[in-house]
Formats: sequence, C-alpha cells, structure tokens
Amino acid sequence: MKDYSIAQIGGDGIGPEVTREAMRVLDLAADMYGFKATRTVYPFGSEHYLATNEIFPEAAFEEVKGMNAIFLGAIGDPRLPVGLIEYGIIAKCRFDLDLFANVRPIQLFDERLCPLKDKGPADVDMVIVRENTEDAYTGMHGFAHKGHHNEVATQTMVYTREGTERVIRYAFELCRERNKTNTVTLIDKANAVRAQDLWTRTFEEVARDYPDIKTEHAYIDAACMWMVKNPEWFDVAVTPNLFGDIITDLGAMVQGGMGIAASGNIHPGKVSLFEPIHGSAPKHAGKNVASPVAAIMASSMLCDFLGEKAAAQAIEGAVRELFTSGRLLGVGTGMHPTDAVGDMVLETLRATAKA
Ligand code: IPM
Ligand code: MG
Repeated sequence: MKDYSIAQIGGDGIGPEVTREAMRVLDLAADMYGFKATRTVYPFGSEHYLATNEIFPEAAFEEVKGMNAIFLGAIGDPRLPVGLIEYGIIAKCRFDLDLFANVRPIQLFDERLCPLKDKGPADVDMVIVRENTEDAYTGMHGFAHKGHHNEVATQTMVYTREGTERVIRYAFELCRERNKTNTVTLIDKANAVRAQDLWTRTFEEVARDYPDIKTEHAYIDAACMWMVKNPEWFDVAVTPNLFGDIITDLGAMVQGGMGIAASGNIHPGKVSLFEPIHGSAPKHAGKNVASPVAAIMASSMLCDFLGEKAAAQAIEGAVRELFTSGRLLGVGTGMHPTDAVGDMVLETLRATAKA
C-alpha cells in the first residue's frame, strides 16, 4: 500500500480547526482508495513563536523537504509584526521549496452560492495559475530617510525569464489536461508595468509550443471586470504573483466565499504545499464556526497531486453533492458548526463509495 508522508501545520486562528476536518476527510478517502497519508504534525505558527521564539527551524524544514506534501491551515496573528510569520512560514515554503505554481481553481458548485446575477456552475469554472516565487514578493524593498518628510520607500518587482517561462508552461499543460475551452489567458499590466513585457514575450513564445491551445490577454484591471461580468470567458489564466494574489480573492467570492476556495503551491515532482486561500480569521478562532470546506478542497488537491485522482474526485464530488442538494448552503455564516460540516462530508463520501 502506498504510504505518503505529509507535514501538517494547522497554524493560527481557525487554521487548526479547519485542518482537523480536512485531515479526517483525507484519512477516510485514503482508507476508501487504498493508500495511507501518514502525518507529522508541526506546531508552527504565531502561538508557538510567542512561546518559543521559533518560527520554522531549519531541522524541521529539512525534514519537510523529504516528504511528499505539506498541508497548511492558516497563518497570521494581529499580535505579531506585519509579515513576520507570513514570510517565516508561507513565503519560506514557497521560495525555499521553489513552489513556483500557485494553482487556484475557481469553481462554482451551485448557482445559489454565486453573488453574480444569472451565473451558474457552467459559467464559473476556471483555474488561476499564480506565479509564486517572484514579483513584489521577493522582499527586495527599502526605506531611505525613514520617518522624515522626504522619506522614500521602494519595492522591486522581479521577473526572471526562467521563472516566467516555467509558470506559463505549467498553465498551458494544465489547460491541455483540463480540456475545457482550451484557452489560456495571460493577465498582466504590461501597459503600465513595462517590465512585464517579459511576460508578453515569453507567453507568445511558449504558446507556439501549444498550437492546440488558444490564447487570450487581459490587463489585470480589465480581468477584474471580466471576472464579474463574464466569468465564463476564463478557462486557465496565468498571472504574476501580486495580481494573482488579488484576483483570487475576487475569484473566491465569485465561487461562494473564502470558506470554499483552495489552493496548491506546486513544484511538480517535489514536495508541494496545499492550503485554503483564506487567512486565520482570528475573530472566529476556536468557536467551531469557520467553514472547513476550503481546507477540505485543499485536501482534494493534495490527493490529486499525489496521483490519487479517484480520492481527489471523490472528495470534490462529496462537497459538490452537499452544495447541490442544498445541505451545505450557508456554510461559513455560523449556520453549520465546523465539525458538523466535516461529519457531513465524511457521510457523503461514504455514501458515494456504496453507490
Ligand atoms: C495568499 C495570502 C498570502 C499572499 C499572505 C498571507 C502573505 O494572501 O496566499 O493569498 O499574499 O500570498
Ligand atoms: Mg491572498
């Protein structure tokens, strides 16, 4: 029996609660489809940092490098300096494990979840591939004359040919695999951020290797407009890191909220990280009210990454079924306790197996 090693980091706020439910679902799926998902649980997060001064020690990081995948709940705590724990855990994994493709599906399970008028599941079914190691996130920033009236602050947007090409290629491959409308859209702002001309040129070059895939282009501002006006226009879209961060929050709302949207931080063939898109939501922490659906969907993506496609589809199918039958509507509004949602997904998953 295949036995996968998974690093489990519940993290901050609602992170541990939603992780708990996602791991129950993962275990059942593993049972049903004949594999094991053996976890090493790490205590890292803000609470651990405040108690020990430790963020993500190198020894643990080395251990994680040898595993198959990482599952992360959520990170962030208002008591800590802005960015400290985010860069120490999430960005550390993304950069130091070179997880260059941040894959964020935007998929509407039921019309009633969508805030857009007259849009249904057939209209909202896309994947945003966000570059995950470059752009304004590389940490190259500085201040001069700090605190004075003439203060200057800069942050460099970094794009390399290699980093741009590999994520664009990933998007084309994914598009071919999805086989939906076979269209990859490049989202950038090359008319203002002229350095993104590198994206324009690289996209054109890579596209030549995929004559079966159509290409489209949208500037990020227009892409936000299209996402709301005509979401059906998108199949796979690829975009630099910062725009990808922003447009996927918009996408999450279009698919029914932050409680649903999941993501994979992927480097094919290497240890990769799966997490809900949402943050730690400190005000909901420990109340058993947060939606674990995003975390559960992240566990489905994790299975897909491991090659356990049937398990991935079964988890997704169970979630879909709970939405289309109306049982899960209102999730994340406090209507359904976190653990009760986990129970519902487990029960539905078991029923699929019998069917
Ligand atoms: C995300 C988050 C992170 C990001 C934060 C927590 C640094 O918003 O994963 O979308 O900006 O990438
Ligand atoms: Mg974000």
